[in-house]
Amino acid sequence: MSNILRRRFGFFLTVTAVLLSMVPVIKSIPFILFHGIGDKCSGGVGNFTQLLSNLSGSSGSCLEIGNGEPDSWFMPLKEQAIVACEKVKEMKELSQGYNIVAQSQGNLVARGLIEFCDNAPPVFNYVSLGGPHAGIAAIPKCASGPICDIAEAMMKLEVYNDFVQDHIAPSGFVKIPGEMSKYLKHSKYLPKLNNERPDERNSTFKDRFASLHNLVLVMFEDDTTLIPKETSWFGYYPDDGFDILLSTQQTKLYIEDWIGLKTLDDAGKVKYVSVSGDHLNIAYEDVVKYVVPYLIQSHL
Ligand SMILES: *[C@@H]1O[C@H](CO)[C@@H](O)[C@H](O)[C@H]1NC(C)=O
Ligand SMILES: *[C@@H]1O[C@H](CO)[C@@H](O)[C@H](O)[C@H]1NC(C)=O
Ligand SMILES: *[C@@H]1O[C@H](CO)[C@@H](O)[C@H](O)[C@H]1NC(C)=O
Repeated sequence: MSNILRRRFGFFLTVTAVLLSMVPVIKSIPFILFHGIGDKCSGGVGNFTQLLSNLSGSSGSCLEIGNGEPDSWFMPLKEQAIVACEKVKEMKELSQGYNIVAQSQGNLVARGLIEFCDNAPPVFNYVSLGGPHAGIAAIPKCASGPICDIAEAMMKLEVYNDFVQDHIAPSGFVKIPGEMSKYLKHSKYLPKLNNERPDERNSTFKDRFASLHNLVLVMFEDDTTLIPKETSWFGYYPDDGFDILLSTQQTKLYIEDWIGLKTLDDAGKVKYVSVSGDHLNIAYEDVVKYVVPYLIQSHL
């Protein structure tokens, strides 16, 4: 090799070494999971978290709010979101950003965390499984047991009563078509979360939600728990009754972009996924197809 060539080759090696040292080590992004009502992290949900972690290679934890099953019923969602916010800020492993998977009611905790939590690390991808995002039009059914019976009885009495709103979590997202003025006046959670009150819309909530990289909305085709099941996609009944069902794109929340859903959709960041099965009964193949990819990297 001539001297010139040797020098060139040496230069090439140096440049290559410098460039290689600049390639960041690809680190997996951690995720947290929020369970639904009547559930707890120590049960099958912990197992599901472990499965997602195994399949994605990312570390994940089921984030418990309070004492699990009882608090999922009796701690108001506003408080649950505050607990989630505090816990996330204490978890050092999330400080560079993280992904979220949430089940059913846990989605309203997750969105409260995303929208309301000040000085929190960024959320990249958010996978929602059967989330009652636009509300539910009927008191949630529950299996059986004393907790169920108390909560159900109280909500049937008067769901928009202050005492019920302060003590029964799901009362915070019951939205009965035809009772809109009562709902907007007395519901203590969903109207704020969805920026529904015209004079109280907060653009910070919208900006935070719109900063997600991917929003995956999974609806269960045979869902008998969420009425209507389309609430998982932000679809809902019109304000005045049950006669028709508005698609996501026909709702005012979407058209007027109260929380940034349209912004995200226009940017191609919303995945509307429909899977077979009843509420939260997701097949393994659908987990692999629609959940795991969003836990592998922050941008897709
Ligand atoms: C936990 O997950 C494994 C693997 O997916 C499954 O075989 C098992 O039945 C699950 N156990 C419970 C209690 O859900
Ligand atoms: C996850 O992987 C670990 C280690 O291979 C295994 O012991 C465990 O059963 C797996 N859990 C699930 C739920 O897949
Ligand atoms: C909107 O929400 C942010 C974040 O919680 C808060 O700092 C701000 O004061 C709110 N703005 C209004 C007008 O309420």
